Amino acid sequence: MDLLANEVELVTELCERLKREKEKIKSKTASLKILDIGCGTGKLAVCLSEETGCAVTGIDPVRANVEKARIKSPSVTFVVQSAVEMTFADNTFDFAVSLKALHEIPNPKEALKEAERVLKESGRLFIIDWVGGVPRTSSHGHVKKYFSPERLKEMLSETCFTGIKIRLNKEGELMLVEGEKMSA
Ligand SMILES: C[S@@+](CC[C@H](N)C(=O)[O-])C[C@H]1O[C@@H](n2cnc3c(N)ncnc32)[C@H](O)[C@@H]1O
Repeated sequence: MDLLANEVELVTELCERLKREKEKIKSKTASLKILDIGCGTGKLAVCLSEETGCAVTGIDPVRANVEKARIKSPSVTFVVQSAVEMTFADNTFDFAVSLKALHEIPNPKEALKEAERVLKESGRLFIIDWVGGVPRTSSHGHVKKYFSPERLKEMLSETCFTGIKIRLNKEGELMLVEGEKMSA
């Protein structure tokens, strides 16, 4: 895996969560679909494709990132696209994930609404991002740019996610936030 040291703990947890969820629903669907929002050069998307065997699509608005990502793995689909204006049909994905990208999206609530739209009913959203507030480690700079766990939880409930859970990594600098798309 191409992950930074501070990403390993929560990405490993994310892989485990996805594998457990996949086990629960695999009898109903042959190939589960994961969307990676703000995939950058594709390290999370490639990792999840290898670890879960799901069909992974990564989106990022920066063409140079997507071109680099495409070189990493021909089995993942990478698309130049913004999280706030996706071209996917409603109810397309089983899971949506994002690593260190939500805080960089100019209108994060619009991105969450779009994620909710493209997820299937009871689909799950997993966001790993920096924890806002007080710097915890030397790599945890620019904390004012980041969401507090409480704010992120609020944003997910405001965009129709339920059962929201938050877990911080050991250093308390990154969080994994999970929510389920509310039934219509
Ligand atoms: C810090 S990078 C993280 C990239 C990747 N997830 C990773 O962990 O390597 C943040 C990413 O968010 C992307 N981004 C910025 N605005 C976006 C938007 N509107 N929609 C989707 N991605 C966006 C950037 O292009 C960048 O690739």
